[in-house]
Amino acid sequence: MATNNSSIDDYIRLAPVIPVVTIEDARASIDLAQTLLQAGLPVIEITLRTPAALDAISAIAKAVPEAVVAAGTILHASQISEVVDAGAKFIVTPGTPLLLAEQLRQAPIPVMPGCSTVSEAMTLASLGFDRLKFFPAAASGGAAWLKSVQGPLPGIAFCPTGGIDQANAASYLKLPNVACVGGTWVTPADALKASDFATIRRLASEAAALRTAG
Ligand code: 3PG
Repeated sequence: MATNNSSIDDYIRLAPVIPVVTIEDARASIDLAQTLLQAGLPVIEITLRTPAALDAISAIAKAVPEAVVAAGTILHASQISEVVDAGAKFIVTPGTPLLLAEQLRQAPIPVMPGCSTVSEAMTLASLGFDRLKFFPAAASGGAAWLKSVQGPLPGIAFCPTGGIDQANAASYLKLPNVACVGGTWVTPADALKASDFATIRRLASEAAALRTAG
């Protein structure tokens, strides 16, 4: 059985929001991580959707060790060792076919696998994963889905991601089976492109205040 639950919990409960970042230029990643950390968001998911992703994970892991850098959009087992070598602290997947789930059980770092249905959540729980990304959250039933599964799926906590923003995040965070939420709204692509860290700092500070606001 996977034995990573206590440590994944340590990470996903550090802050109410995990910024999900698709980075085009790894050189910006250190300033980005420092900005998010200082604003109160120490956990950052870098998606493996660009060639710069592994370099960004590595740069953050080395230069900003107080941050917790996760590797997201893991689709293939071959990516596990790549992100571990780059220094990722944990792994996130958008969805989790059974073969990938079985390979993720062998990962040397914690994993938060993705699901969007009750059956997928049950399959993952049977493999030892009970901290799950719920993706795409808004399109898959949103806060109403999470509220509905509290009774039948006790013991599973979710990080809903996909369609969440500053306006609706609190409606998710108030649910007892939500550990945190994820989203791209804190690091808009145009702000990243322009190295507009003032905007990112403001959005991150607002997001960091959500737990108390919610
Ligand atoms: C993810 O990979 O988690 C999503 O791309 C985030 O979705 P969002 O852009 O709706 O926040």
